[in-house]
Amino acid sequence: MKIVLEHLTKVFENKKTKSQVIAVNDLDVEIPSGKLIGLLGPSGCGKSTTLFMLSGLENPTSGRIIFGEDDVTKLVPEKRGIGLVFQNYALYPHMTVEKNIMFPLENMKVPKDEAKKRAYDTAKLVQIENLLQRKPSELSGGQQQRVAIARALVKMPSVLLLDEPLSNLDARLRLQTREEIKRIQQETGITTIFVTHDQEEAMSICDTILVMKLGVVQQMGHPQAIYDDPDNLFVANFLGTPPINIFEGEVKGGKLIVNGEELMKVPYEDQEVYVGIRPEGFIYNQEGGVLTLMKDHIEVMGRDKSIVATHEKSTKPTVRCIIDSGVQLSDKYSLKFDLRPEKVFVFNKESEMRLR
Ligand SMILES: Nc1ncnc2c1ncn2[C@@H]1O[C@H](COP(=O)(O)OP(=O)(O)O)[C@@H](O)[C@H]1O
Ligand SMILES: [Mg+2]
Repeated sequence: MKIVLEHLTKVFENKKTKSQVIAVNDLDVEIPSGKLIGLLGPSGCGKSTTLFMLSGLENPTSGRIIFGEDDVTKLVPEKRGIGLVFQNYALYPHMTVEKNIMFPLENMKVPKDEAKKRAYDTAKLVQIENLLQRKPSELSGGQQQRVAIARALVKMPSVLLLDEPLSNLDARLRLQTREEIKRIQQETGITTIFVTHDQEEAMSICDTILVMKLGVVQQMGHPQAIYDDPDNLFVANFLGTPPINIFEGEVKGGKLIVNGEELMKVPYEDQEVYVGIRPEGFIYNQEGGVLTLMKDHIEVMGRDKSIVATHEKSTKPTVRCIIDSGVQLSDKYSLKFDLRPEKVFVFNKESEMRLR
């Protein structure tokens, strides 16, 4: 089901301190039907508040929420047809897995036999059908989270909302469970909103991601499209491991200059800028390279190697370049590089907006 958020805003008032927090600020997006959507941003940027408003657990201060053709802004949570999964699985500890999954159906007065069958089918979908008679305490974290997902799915919701569902799992289980979420979403075709602060997690499984900062949407699109074409410095910085390298520089007379070195010609007016260069944007060229970095050390990663270097104008302590492991480097401390123009992004220094 398609979801439209129209100028959605949530302001929390603190009566004691008379202060306000704008948790979500004029969120105006159309979420495509049947896809896995990542809601991505650092802690405190308004992801959970957005999800709570979608689910009906929080009322928006202003704006509208449309599911399909229906305005659900004022609708109670039970009538919205949503399934919700939180970071902490929130299972009923005294009930078996089966009872946990059937619980929402009892509330909906679904006949017992049918509820049992639906619980089994949903458990099968998330691959826990052999655990139905166990109690939550007899399951691993990953299994408990699958029960929570089954419990959300058994109602056959038209929207599935997942709030940092992998945060309590260890690294290996996180990888495995995120693939599971992708598979379940594809098998059911339910419009799913997956909240995370982990860019790699969002990039790896989502069809579309929506990047937020301080309650404001920064960019929305296919993960690769956003990575390749960020609209501002925040988005460029937030996506990618290792992260993008950022240098202070300037545009002067149609040339992009960093630390006195001319990197390339650019069609922009004279101004102070930040220059972002992705780690894979460097081509080693000791003789004719345009940018000089001071080598710190090399990390071998099999197919590639990572050059860890420093630069006077870098905004971060180190600069990282990833190059083919076969490339032979000079013994010198100063290494010279050419740049792949499609991996270089220029931002106005004040607004931090991308120059186009
Ligand atoms: N019930 C609340 N009362 C007051 N402030 C809140 C409340 N819930 C969230 N906030 C504030 O709103 C902002 C967004 O919070 P949240 O949506 O939980 O962010 P996220 O899920 O992205 O970490 C934060 O500054 C948070 O402190
Ligand atoms: Mg949150």
